[in-house]
Amino acid sequence: MWKGRFQQEQSDFLKSYGESVSIDWRLYRQDIRGSIAHARALVGAGVLTGDEFPQIETGLLEIEKEIAEGVFEFSRDLEDVHMNIESALTKRIGAAGAKLHTARSRNDQVALDLRMYLRDAAKEIVTGIRGLQRELAGFAGRHEGAILPGYTHLQRAQPVFLAHHLLAYVEMLDRDAGRVADCAQRMDAMPLGSGAIAGSTIVLDREAVAKELGFSRVTTNSMDAVADRDFACELLAALAILGMHISRLSEDVILWASAEFGFIELSDRHTTGSSLMPQKKNPDIAELARGKTGRLYGNLVSLLTTMKGLPLTYNRDMQEDKGPVFDSIDTVLATLEVFAEMMSAAVFREDRALAAAGDPLLLATDLADRLVEGGVPFREAHEIVGRLVAEAQKCGTPLHRLDGAHFLGASPVLTPDVIEKTFELRAAMEARKAVGAPSPENVARELARWKSVLL
Ligand code: ARG
Repeated sequence: MWKGRFQQEQSDFLKSYGESVSIDWRLYRQDIRGSIAHARALVGAGVLTGDEFPQIETGLLEIEKEIAEGVFEFSRDLEDVHMNIESALTKRIGAAGAKLHTARSRNDQVALDLRMYLRDAAKEIVTGIRGLQRELAGFAGRHEGAILPGYTHLQRAQPVFLAHHLLAYVEMLDRDAGRVADCAQRMDAMPLGSGAIAGSTIVLDREAVAKELGFSRVTTNSMDAVADRDFACELLAALAILGMHISRLSEDVILWASAEFGFIELSDRHTTGSSLMPQKKNPDIAELARGKTGRLYGNLVSLLTTMKGLPLTYNRDMQEDKGPVFDSIDTVLATLEVFAEMMSAAVFREDRALAAAGDPLLLATDLADRLVEGGVPFREAHEIVGRLVAEAQKCGTPLHRLDGAHFLGASPVLTPDVIEKTFELRAAMEARKAVGAPSPENVARELARWKSVLL
């Protein structure tokens, strides 16, 4: 493609070191769409004749079909997907193919292809996120009344509805979908026409190209357009955060699936056994999802590091952008799908969760609240209940079974009637009425809201 300037053949080492087609062949559809739009603009500028355009279009569509069918032969000698396609086209149709690269550089071409690819990927990822949200909300809905202990510091804290717990993840995933959709909007600017760095003396109708390719606007600085990979960094950042969320969900599922918790039973289809220990049933999907989050972080750091020292504009370093981006997209799409399937087949053990949530210590704060209602300052109430907890532990009795005299000795507010009401789990849940808190009415309303949002 640049033979005029060179007298020697390229080193075989450089060919294999520098090729990117083994990775960027995935951009072929975008490359071909972009080339057809570019060719149409070249007709408008009088560079291509009206009958050269159909030759180019037909040739490119043929190549697209061959690649899709797996019969196209990519050559590493031709470095990347762009040169492979252009060279195949020129071989087929001759002169017209050799005109296609007028007023275009691979610098603006690759920027275009990657933006188009990521724009489509972003849509698919949002669909995947919605799928997992729907599965979690569905799971919550199937166990609407289920109560389990909520934890802080992984110590039992206060009782919560399972639905409240799972809807917390639905909220996180919603922010993830928002971040992905948001960066898709920012990448919606068409860079073709920026050339290698400073546009071209052959002026094309960039707006028409943008329209044909489904972009809502064109980039407005040719140097920025070829040097920018923010859109890829942003997507990688959004996917890293999404990975962090799925990893935390994984951790909850892994804990719940242990004998110690026993809150969830994963299906045989979504667990593995041990080659040595016959009793084992391992939550590998959740572990892998947690583990693969490492590569999502790594891919983000990889691209940020690649970009940080680059002077304007395009530098060959930037070829290293595609591996991380493709890997994060593949990882996230697969994770979302397999996780949703795993959740759809899992069974929640309401009895086990309720037994754990029935621990009266989870309502120690409620007891302090009763003292506050009786006029005791909260700090004092906290101390009084703390002493009662210690006493119960010393006697080996559950907190609510302490002798009535103990309670009355601590405060006249704590009559047997108050004690009985305070430790009634259902009533305790009903009392948590503030917006965002898990009263049954609130949780039911949130479940209904998410169901309608996620239709
Ligand atoms: N394979 C290159 C990449 O992925 C295409 C752009 C090459 N541009 C250049 N001036 N060598 O970044």
